Amino acid sequence: MSSRSVFRTKKVEHSLDSAEQSEHRLRKTLSALDLTVFGVGVVIGTGIFVLTGQVAKENAGPSVAIAFAVAGVVCALAALCYAEFASTVPVAGSAYTFSYTSLGELPAWIIGWDLVLEFALGTAVVAVGWSGYIRSLLENIGWTLPEVLSGRDGTTGFGFDLLAAVLVLLLTVVLVVGMKLSARITSVVVAIKVGVVLLVIVAGAFLVKAENYKPFIPASVPQEAGGGLHAPLIQLIFGFAPSNFGVLGIFTAASVVFFAFIGFDVVATAAEETRNPQRDMPRGILGSLAICTALYVLVSIVVTGMQHYTRLSVDAPLAEAFKATGHPFFAGVISFGAAVGLITVCMILLLGQTRVFFAMSRDGLLPRFFSHVHPRFKTPYRPTILLGVIIAVVAGFTRLAELAELVNIGTLFAFVVVALSVIILRRTRPDLPRAFRTPWVPVLPVVSVLASLWLMLNLPAETWIRFAVWMALGVVVYFAYGHRRSLLAPGRTPTPDTTPH
Ligand code: ALA
Repeated sequence: MSSRSVFRTKKVEHSLDSAEQSEHRLRKTLSALDLTVFGVGVVIGTGIFVLTGQVAKENAGPSVAIAFAVAGVVCALAALCYAEFASTVPVAGSAYTFSYTSLGELPAWIIGWDLVLEFALGTAVVAVGWSGYIRSLLENIGWTLPEVLSGRDGTTGFGFDLLAAVLVLLLTVVLVVGMKLSARITSVVVAIKVGVVLLVIVAGAFLVKAENYKPFIPASVPQEAGGGLHAPLIQLIFGFAPSNFGVLGIFTAASVVFFAFIGFDVVATAAEETRNPQRDMPRGILGSLAICTALYVLVSIVVTGMQHYTRLSVDAPLAEAFKATGHPFFAGVISFGAAVGLITVCMILLLGQTRVFFAMSRDGLLPRFFSHVHPRFKTPYRPTILLGVIIAVVAGFTRLAELAELVNIGTLFAFVVVALSVIILRRTRPDLPRAFRTPWVPVLPVVSVLASLWLMLNLPAETWIRFAVWMALGVVVYFAYGHRRSLLAPGRTPTPDTTPH
């Protein structure tokens, strides 16, 4: 096998052509507004509703607001790179497709495999978070699920999260039936979710007490013994005693609350279903990201001002802060909105997942069986059903926090590859029309790579190990299947499209 063959690239025009073959074609129905709603729909979720309290309490105190801003800047840099690619290569598959046209087949496979991790585990994490809110609402009216059906968090023995699994299966059915239906449901739910977030900001602003901000950046404290592999990799590399809070704590917090931004890149995966991707993609991606960053910073400032960070709840911090200040009615409304809102997050992550899988199968890197669209619904129903069932099982047996970190490292890795791809494609294909051009290339993409790597280094060492194992498995699968079955393999393709890199 030549090293050139693993770097063979798919021509951009070929990506566009294969998207046009009718048997493999998705409907083009989405507008810029749909995409923005889509983006906000997936981005606001477990991150702000659940992780804010946990991270303020354990890593950053009120400076969690700064952590959100840091994570937002990292995402904005990556978004500017994503937007150029999405407007140049408007076909299903996101970073996977983008890298196939620029870096070559093996890097593209790696990124696709990585996106499977991001979206599938992300879906599972959010489903588990949703289940927690629903159980808490049910408890308010006196219903309690048996412990054995309430998930793995907080138990040592057998536990299955029935509600999380049922949610994933129901959403799978919605996606098989079609984009239009799911986009309509999404808009209503997004409106409820944003309404609840605005309620927290506006009503909460009147309940803020200045003394809760003291100290705004709590002094650094050593991690309890046994931190070991839990410690951020950067602290181990530079031989710091693992610690929480302080200035370093802000970056640890940023690498965790980064989860709250995951999803804006999913907007790019819907490019093939967008009416005018050249114009609407950048608007959809950057628009949803700007709205969410502003909301997150405001929510975290308000919540840490309502309740001292040491007393924040780790399960439902936004609602509990209102209870603690004597406003249980608002708390109920917020819990309800969060439970409803997390549904869209789950659904769109699941959608992004099936679209990546679909694109990889259409290229022959996964069995072609998965790339047929449903004759009536025009959706890639086979990967949707397969992945929906697997994710439902994973969600049933998942512990939340560790998986969230694994999702983050996978996503940041994708950001690195996308930013590098912008630079490479500008050199190898300067001729392509780009409706949106990333400013200051190559400086901005390089800064984006460094920023993403910095957040990755702030994740625990054990997360790095899990990530390395997953990626190694992906390389094995590629050489065992994809490399030979790829449409770009000799004798399997219209060879003029095979361009060794
Ligand atoms: N950004 C999404 C969330 O916070 C994944 O749940």
